[in-house]
Amino acid sequence: MMDRRSIVSFGFLLLLLFQLTFEQLEPLSSPTEGAALFELRSSLGLRSKEWPRKADPCSWNGVQCENGRVVGIHISGFRRTRIGRRNPQFAVDALANLTLLQTFNASNFLLPGPIPDWFGQQLFSLRVLDLRSCSINGTIPSSFGNLTNLTSLYLSDNRLVAQIPDTLDQLLGLSVLDLSQNSLTGSIPSWFTFLGNLSSLDISANFFSGPIPAGIGNLSKLQYLNLSNNGLTSSIPAQLGNLSNLVDLDLSVNSLSGPVPSDLKGLRNLKRLIISNNTLGGTFPEDLFQNSLQLQFIVLSHNNISGALPDELWSLPRLRFLDVSVNNFTGMLPNFSLAANATPAELYISHNMFYGGLTPVLIRFSFIDLSSNYFEGKVLDFMFNNASLDTNCLQNVSNQRTFEECASFYTKRGLAFDNFGRPNSTESGGKSNKNTIILAAVLGGLGLILLLALVLISLLLCARKRRNSNRRGNGVGPAPAGGSPSHPGVLINFSNVGDSFTYQQLLQASGFSDTNLIKHGHSGDLFNGILESGIPVVIKRIDMPSNKKDAYLSELDFFSKVSHSRFVPLLGHCLDKENEKFLVYKHMPNGDLLNCFYRKTTSDDGTLQSLDWITRLKIATGVAEGLSYLHHECDPPFVHRDIQASSILLDDKYEVRLGSLSEVCIQEGDSHQSKITRLLRLPQSSDQGTSASSTSVCAYDVYCFGKILLGLVTGNLRIGASSDGEGKEWLEQTISYITIYEKELVTKIVDPSMIVDEDFLEEVWAMAIVARSCLNPKPSRRPPMKYVLKALENPLKVVREENSSSARLKATSSRGSWNAALFGSWRQSSSDVTVIPASSGARVEGVSSLKHSGTTGSQGSNHNGGGDFSSSRRRQSKEIVPEPLNLQDVERLEHE
Ligand SMILES: *[C@@H]1O[C@H](CO)[C@@H](O)[C@H](O)[C@H]1NC(C)=O
Ligand SMILES: *[C@@H]1O[C@H](CO)[C@@H](O)[C@H](O)[C@H]1NC(C)=O
Ligand SMILES: *[C@@H]1O[C@H](CO)[C@@H](O)[C@H](O)[C@H]1NC(C)=O
Ligand SMILES: *[C@@H]1O[C@H](CO)[C@@H](O)[C@H](O)[C@H]1NC(C)=O
Ligand SMILES: *[C@@H]1O[C@H](CO)[C@@H](O)[C@H](O)[C@H]1NC(C)=O
Ligand SMILES: *[C@@H]1O[C@H](CO)[C@@H](O)[C@H](O)[C@H]1NC(C)=O
Ligand SMILES: *[C@@H]1O[C@H](CO)[C@@H](O)[C@H](O)[C@H]1NC(C)=O
Ligand SMILES: *[C@@H]1O[C@H](CO)[C@@H](O)[C@H](O)[C@H]1NC(C)=O
Ligand SMILES: *[C@@H]1O[C@H](CO)[C@@H](O)[C@H](O)[C@H]1NC(C)=O
Repeated sequence: MMDRRSIVSFGFLLLLLFQLTFEQLEPLSSPTEGAALFELRSSLGLRSKEWPRKADPCSWNGVQCENGRVVGIHISGFRRTRIGRRNPQFAVDALANLTLLQTFNASNFLLPGPIPDWFGQQLFSLRVLDLRSCSINGTIPSSFGNLTNLTSLYLSDNRLVAQIPDTLDQLLGLSVLDLSQNSLTGSIPSWFTFLGNLSSLDISANFFSGPIPAGIGNLSKLQYLNLSNNGLTSSIPAQLGNLSNLVDLDLSVNSLSGPVPSDLKGLRNLKRLIISNNTLGGTFPEDLFQNSLQLQFIVLSHNNISGALPDELWSLPRLRFLDVSVNNFTGMLPNFSLAANATPAELYISHNMFYGGLTPVLIRFSFIDLSSNYFEGKVLDFMFNNASLDTNCLQNVSNQRTFEECASFYTKRGLAFDNFGRPNSTESGGKSNKNTIILAAVLGGLGLILLLALVLISLLLCARKRRNSNRRGNGVGPAPAGGSPSHPGVLINFSNVGDSFTYQQLLQASGFSDTNLIKHGHSGDLFNGILESGIPVVIKRIDMPSNKKDAYLSELDFFSKVSHSRFVPLLGHCLDKENEKFLVYKHMPNGDLLNCFYRKTTSDDGTLQSLDWITRLKIATGVAEGLSYLHHECDPPFVHRDIQASSILLDDKYEVRLGSLSEVCIQEGDSHQSKITRLLRLPQSSDQGTSASSTSVCAYDVYCFGKILLGLVTGNLRIGASSDGEGKEWLEQTISYITIYEKELVTKIVDPSMIVDEDFLEEVWAMAIVARSCLNPKPSRRPPMKYVLKALENPLKVVREENSSSARLKATSSRGSWNAALFGSWRQSSSDVTVIPASSGARVEGVSSLKHSGTTGSQGSNHNGGGDFSSSRRRQSKEIVPEPLNLQDVERLEHE
């Protein structure tokens, strides 16, 4: 029953549908128009595919009928038949017989030749004419003035010449006029003023000359005005400020002069303002941006505008792009921070005369070009990424102006130059000469010492390198003495390291163009690309001559051995070419940690904020998982060697996928055999580690990871990359705020851009403590990665249980070694790190010992150990990982 009923209703539906379609496709009723369409079909050489001979013309692709009459023809982008292609012409005479035609759209369809005059004497019903990119030449026919029904006229990207005919002043209904990208000449007609319905006027990229008629200011409906790329002269008429509906104004690349009129402040709805590449001058009007709350995109570059930028400009709520470079702007940056809901933006203010210190007003900008100004003082922490600072007067930045330039600039303005942060060396008067000589002598002496030191260091480095390479075979990939795996080149099984792509495929996917370039990585250039299947990828191009030859092989080797969700997936490779090799990775939507740290946007406008705490903890744990896998679950263990913020890639859910795997190697000397030798020669090697530790031991990764943790806590991820004096100083200072005794102290270093609830403060504190322990100067005293992971997975346990035990410790232990208490449990079970190959069992032990840290901690601190390990094993552990995390040096600092 049910079946029959549903069949009946289904049939009824079909009937209805049929009727509906039938009604819509009312056949063409006018034989004249039918004949005209067939004539058009053959004169243009249209194909049966689009206009099938047998079907009713009203059903043809792009033919629009109403009541059996043709009202619209859309042949844009159609292809001609082979014959039609042979001699394409502007042959549309048949249109004349379609007397009700309202729309003719032939954009991107070749119609070489001039527009016929009769257009304007016949197609009276025409409302929309779109002849963009049709290769039309000749002039705009003056008969067009008769097409008074026209609302949209698009003639851009053709070869039209001569002036715009004055008859067009009759097209009072025109709403869109687009004559851009032609070779039109003459001045902009003043009768444009009459076209009161214009909402969009584009005459850019022609050869118009003369002034902008002030009357354009009367076009009250205008929303889009583009006069760029012409030869317009004279000044910007103040009347343009009357265009209160204008959204987009582009006057760039002309020869406009004079000042920017302050009246432009009337453009209340403006979103884009582009007046670059003119010869505008004068002082910039202070009140210009009073009302322009909508402004998003501002380009004033390549003019000669002077004066200061109005304060409002910096705090425009929707700003995304600000370029005032190559002008004569001056002044200091305002010193305020923006509302939290300000959009992130890019800032280009190079080649001006800005000066003074850098201020928090710059925080909202994700890219900053300040080069060729006179900024002084320190570079702010958040400018770790994507800031161009050359040719200023900044402290501790390379490529700055000379002292003389800076001092003279500041002196001229009656200001004192901070002399790059060094004590003032010049004093006025006669004394200065003598002083300079003494100074020069001192500097010379210092230079000599520095030179000697450099030579010494490089000698040492060379020696060390040679030793390393001896140890690692000929420096070709990891070839440890213990001898299990991998002389790359030979043994890699490519079948399980993704697809093999051809060069053509990759070329198609990316083109390796500059626009697709992500960055020049140290092991190759990285490009965005999209595979034919539509999958977005990142392609690494490795230039063979300029790179360590087999780095890509050792990376492939790594992928052939390791597959774990914490590493960026390798989709394939292309090794066909002699001089270039390619590795293809899955694209990570959130880029790397450095990029996305300050960029997370929530709404359409986007609010500038840094990653929240939960995400940061998630990222830290993710990285720890990846490293823990490398260090403890691979046999022999791998060392990543390049842990820094830019190596931590994030997928769409902010899950960590470690990248930058070209440096991965097998832990130096890590085989069972060499463990014994290491045991024997431990004393001196651990001392060595204090100064410049080898990078091919797991402890090196732990140290780098410590920097990441500290970066996540403080927001300063830049330290990951730098190891210069400044970085070290910052590190020491910051670490001194991390102590197990006092939670509140950590708030002094917590990233100010992160809102931390009281609930989370303990977790932040815990992460800081873990960071500090990872940053122990002695490699042997850094905690093994798997315990770091445990601690991050249970951050509260770290601080809560430690707190109670540390209180006890404080009373009993004179040295107050909080870290011994914290990681006492780690030390006890650390025997299995080095002796027992890692297993899931070991992980469980880690958990349980952590749980009991409250009780075992105090025992651990006086080397008694506890519970379930045999004493011989414990002795080994003590020797291999002697005294966990004694940060005496740093703590000494703390007590000073
Ligand atoms: C178009 O109409 C004119 C008369 O207005 C007629 O002479 C001509 O033959 C028609 N063309 C077609 C293709 O029907
Ligand atoms: C003409 O057709 C093209 C292609 O379909 C389309 O992009 C364009 O918007 C059309 N022009 C007008 C005025 O609708
Ligand atoms: C317009 O183009 C056609 C075909 O390309 C050419 O034959 C003709 O000379 C051109 N006319 C003008 C005025 O440039
Ligand atoms: C404008 O089009 C209407 C039909 O849509 C027509 O009646 C009228 O005559 C046209 N105007 C002119 C000036 O041809
Ligand atoms: C406008 O049309 C009329 C006849 O419809 C014609 O006489 C006149 O020449 C046309 N104007 C132009 C400028 O072509
Ligand atoms: C201008 O546009 C309005 C609304 O779109 C319309 O009513 C009016 O007729 C137009 N003016 C002319 C002269 O076409
Ligand atoms: C503006 O001028 C500069 C310098 O002449 C030039 O490099 C730049 O390409 C110009 N911009 C545009 C949009 O033409
Ligand atoms: C730049 O502005 C200063 C005043 O701030 C003026 O003295 C100087 O002449 C200007 N330079 C140019 C090239 O206009
Ligand atoms: C010396 O430098 C300080 C800032 O570092 C500045 O305040 C002071 O005015 C300078 N003195 C002279 C004589 O330049």
